[in-house]
Amino acid sequence: MSLTGRTALVTGFGGGIGSAIAVSLAEGGCRLVGTDRSMSDTVKQNMEKIKEISGQEALFFECDLLNRESIDQLCSTIASKVPSGIDILVNNAGCYERCTMDEKTLESWDRDLAINLTAPFLLSKNFAMSMKKKGWGRIINMSSVAGLLSCPLTIGYCSSKTGLVGLTKTIAAELAPLGVTCNAICPSVLDTPIIQPVLDALKKETGASKSILNTKYIGIFLTVSKFMKINNVIQPVLDALQKETGASREEIMENFRKTYPTKKFTTTKQIGDYVVFLCSPAADNMTGLATPMDGGFSIV
Ligand SMILES: NC(=O)c1ccc[n+]([C@@H]2O[C@H](COP(=O)([O-])OP(=O)(O)OC[C@H]3O[C@@H](n4cnc5c(N)ncnc54)[C@H](O)[C@@H]3O)[C@@H](O)[C@H]2O)c1
Repeated sequence: MSLTGRTALVTGFGGGIGSAIAVSLAEGGCRLVGTDRSMSDTVKQNMEKIKEISGQEALFFECDLLNRESIDQLCSTIASKVPSGIDILVNNAGCYERCTMDEKTLESWDRDLAINLTAPFLLSKNFAMSMKKKGWGRIINMSSVAGLLSCPLTIGYCSSKTGLVGLTKTIAAELAPLGVTCNAICPSVLDTPIIQPVLDALKKETGASKSILNTKYIGIFLTVSKFMKINNVIQPVLDALQKETGASREEIMENFRKTYPTKKFTTTKQIGDYVVFLCSPAADNMTGLATPMDGGFSIV
């Protein structure tokens, strides 16, 4: 297994994508250190699964990435409990709020930036030190297609995920001669807890029902969202959609799926396996990438 002897730290360890990344890394032979806000049932299940897969106990430390002292505490705890250092850092934790610029409070803006951008910066800065000394390291940042495209109603998310792509490229350029690569992954919608506000808002805004929530309308909605062209032509369509009610989560997700050129969702496992690839010898000379994993959504 290509990652035997490496140690990875995964933030958002108890989340949908974080769980899949941790499992893929364990399958690759990696030792796992996880962090999240709390020791949830998912965290416990992940730790059991990792033990089963690799025979190695995963370590877990609570950390609130909103809080600088908590981040400092995490770094010093890992320094004492994992003296060999972190070889692979996956900055995966993230938060999302859907609202207009008018509705966005400074407090909420600061929160988006703190979790989605400042925490990856602070953790990269800390853990890159031992990677540089060893002459080998991997930093992988979970951005989003929202970090590549304009996305209205997600001002804090889009800004912080775009910033994360900038952070990725800057770290990549700085650490390239030292054997440390830094890459970003940019998924579109995946079915994990973080997208619930999107589904709720979409249902509310389109008032979508089985009859009206079809590929065409959702396609228009997403295209409009993507290019920020909500104008007089599109508004009557949205107004008409608002009159209807009642689509289920499954119906909404089914319509999301159909808007992708490939007509398929990226799975969390595919993201986990791509992280393993980025840590493999095959990706040794790949750095500064911001790879869409979006079924072609960003090219149409
Ligand atoms: N699911 C999607 O559609 C999608 C699409 C593109 C990008 N992403 C990105 O993927 C990453 C993982 O998201 P997910 O889909 O697994 O969602 P998720 O909600 O399942 O996971 C998010 C994780 O971040 C953690 N987190 C949030 N605030 C935190 C804080 N203050 N301190 C510590 N941890 C905190 C959560 O506890 C959770 O474990 C995020 O960065 C997200 O922006 C997700």
